[in-house]
Amino acid sequence: MNIAIVGTGYVGLVSGACFAETGATVTCVDVDENKIEALKKGIIPIYEPGLDELVVKNVRAGRLKFSTCLPDIINEQEIVFTAVGTPPDEDGSADLKYVLQVAKTIGENLNRYLVVVTKSTVPVGTSRKVYTAIKKELDKRGVDVQFDVASNPEFLKEGNAIKDFMSPDRVVIGVESERAKKILTKLYKPFLINNFRVIFMDIPSAEMTKYAANSMLATRISFMNDIANLCELVGADVNKVRAGIGSDTRIGRKFLYAGCGYGGSCFPKDVKALIKTADDNGYSLEVLKAVERVNERQKGVMFEKLKRSFNGESLAGKKIALWGLAFKPETDDMRESTALVVMKKLLDEGCIVTAYDPEAMKECKRIMGDSIIYCNDMYEAVNGADALLLLTEWKEFRLPDWEAIGRSMNRKLVLDGRNIYDKEDLNEHGFEYHCIGK
Ligand code: UDX
Repeated sequence: MNIAIVGTGYVGLVSGACFAETGATVTCVDVDENKIEALKKGIIPIYEPGLDELVVKNVRAGRLKFSTCLPDIINEQEIVFTAVGTPPDEDGSADLKYVLQVAKTIGENLNRYLVVVTKSTVPVGTSRKVYTAIKKELDKRGVDVQFDVASNPEFLKEGNAIKDFMSPDRVVIGVESERAKKILTKLYKPFLINNFRVIFMDIPSAEMTKYAANSMLATRISFMNDIANLCELVGADVNKVRAGIGSDTRIGRKFLYAGCGYGGSCFPKDVKALIKTADDNGYSLEVLKAVERVNERQKGVMFEKLKRSFNGESLAGKKIALWGLAFKPETDDMRESTALVVMKKLLDEGCIVTAYDPEAMKECKRIMGDSIIYCNDMYEAVNGADALLLLTEWKEFRLPDWEAIGRSMNRKLVLDGRNIYDKEDLNEHGFEYHCIGK
């Protein structure tokens, strides 16, 4: 089976490598020549565990190819996936220019039946726009070629992308033609050994499913962060509350961890976009608007705690160490990360910021330039510091040598934004310790 995937970002590259792994012949297409040249040499532009090996292995096997020219390869494919970016516009709506550009190119070059599948996260109604854009170009050329559109949203998580793709909880496919449904069923058949479900539905419902899923997950987090903040005021412990409510099977245990706010390329963008879709349709999504507000506030919680710890004393000139810059562990992605908000507030206050992250240092330098001090490891970051702020729960931060840290810090103050440390343990080592929701 020949398939092409347009866009070699997270979703495109992971999908391409994983489909190739099941035996399909995959061509990944991107307009970025440097990126494609690097990929051909096995250089992966992102940090994602296991992705390098999978790409190199399938390139060697001849099942994974790269190209910068969709027109060259379009008529050899049974399916083309669009996995290009849909960055938010200024008003929060998803910008569809890349998706529609791909559709136009397909229409300009298509000479035989094709299934065009949108994998990018796009608002309800986009697949219809894709159909119209392709048809318009075909009509211009006066050619009568059959094609179908489908929607196949991707639910993979950064840092766990390969596993999520190879053994997903479910695959959602919005498709309205039997011919296309048959082809997509064939493509996903190799995954059936993993016992997961393919859920077929109409196209608008599939498009909506992706936004609803991410919005529901973001809602759980903001809800728990809200409860955590209240726990602090009334003397409750959010971790105990989480265990208490999570054991109700209707609620479930996952995704209930209070922290210093959610980030990443998906939740903030998708929540905004769904709010916008509703507004455009004359409806106000009140719950989601609150989810967003709560998250914005939560990203400032660590700074507020720091200020309280200094009892109104000025923070100017204080040396503040940050552990974790990526929006979550196992990624170098800093998009919408809490660290960005915290760094800005600290710098505005006149603090000296030292930072360490196992993977995101390069990305942080790209964004923050020389405004902060980059450290080679977690211990260097706390040397002489007046406070340590844990912002991302990387595994290597879980069991630090508190004795050594206590000796090297100027003030023994730890603010834990992901609730990974034990208060008693820290207090025994002579630290003042604050976390979220206790
Ligand atoms: C998310 C969805 O999980 C995925 O299905 C979708 O395809 C893309 O968006 P991702 O952005 O990779 O994936 O990250 P995820 O692991 O979901 O975490 C998002 C954010 O929520 C992180 O900042 C994380 O720290 C935060 N989070 C997560 C919490 O604060 N508490 C939790 O309990 C879980």
